[in-house]
Amino acid sequence: MKGGNLKLVVVKNGFDAWDWNILGMTLTERMRRIAEIHGLEFQSVESLEDVNLTGSSIVLTRPILFDFKDLSTLNQHIPESGCVEVYASTGEFTGIYLCNGGGLSNANKVSLDFCFVDVATEGVKTAERFLLKKLIKPSDGPISRLINRRISIPISRLLVRTSLTPNMLSLMSFILALVAAAALALGTKLGLLIGGIMAEVASILDGCDGEIARLKLMFSEFGAWFDRVLDRYADILIIAALSTAAMGGHPETAWMWGLIAAAGSLLMSYTANICDIMYLNGIPIRLGRDLRLFIVFFGGLFGKPFETLIVISFVSHIEVIRRIGAFAHNRSCIRH
Ligand code: C5P
Ligand code: CA
Ligand code: CA
Repeated sequence: MKGGNLKLVVVKNGFDAWDWNILGMTLTERMRRIAEIHGLEFQSVESLEDVNLTGSSIVLTRPILFDFKDLSTLNQHIPESGCVEVYASTGEFTGIYLCNGGGLSNANKVSLDFCFVDVATEGVKTAERFLLKKLIKPSDGPISRLINRRISIPISRLLVRTSLTPNMLSLMSFILALVAAAALALGTKLGLLIGGIMAEVASILDGCDGEIARLKLMFSEFGAWFDRVLDRYADILIIAALSTAAMGGHPETAWMWGLIAAAGSLLMSYTANICDIMYLNGIPIRLGRDLRLFIVFFGGLFGKPFETLIVISFVSHIEVIRRIGAFAHNRSCIRH
């Protein structure tokens, strides 16, 4: 962001929409948090006359909602000394007005080149839909897109109004995975069924921590890392439980397939970063934890722990080999 004393100014202009509750937070609170994330000073004033236009400012004169990342886009439009008035969807022009030190009149028009919602005209429902739609990540796997997010997003929509934090949810998903592992380890038909279902529930809840982090603007480096570390522990414990269950029918080879599946599971996450970079550069389909836990769900449903380990082993190692091949052919994607 441009250095110095850059400000984000909210001008209420008599719009109640600034104080409407949108997924547990008013628009003003959201803007305050967005400013904080970007290291900007924040100011909320009643009318344009109250705005102190010395220094560089982004002035929001209508209650518009945009993605937190788009503040950087707005920032790029700011002249060295001046301000940007975000004056969205009034009259025939939808965009931002750039002004160069000379106040908000005589401003240049620049079209907004990102998605936003004018909350006053489009209402809370549209604003909420806008935020919820953004929860799907570009790196989400097929099971995540087709099944998990369709359930986790409505759950997060309810949870966002509680005081649950993303880290608490990461821990809850981990505890569910532990319960799943305990049930799977029993090796009985019922244990495998309950364990399989719990593993899929844990997988769905694994989406909620990130969704709440993004909705409440509470994401953190620690949270992202904590989420990943707990996932690895949960994955290994579920595979250990499946191996224990498979020992009954296949006492000689169950441990070996368990080891191969565990290695495949860890290697998939070890190679995930490269995979995400390539994905963002246009290589489709990302297979990951969503698929592995879905296989556990399916295996549990049919009471087949041994076969589940074999399928996880093949799927994960074939995916890792595919990533090696894809990286070898797309070396230019990764620049240092
Ligand atoms: O939706 P999903 O859980 O896959 O999103 C993961 C992302 O959510 C992390 O990269 C991180 O930005 C955020 N997160 C967080 N704190 C947590 C869990 C996730 O900040 N406890
Ligand atoms: Ca997660
Ligand atoms: Ca997790």
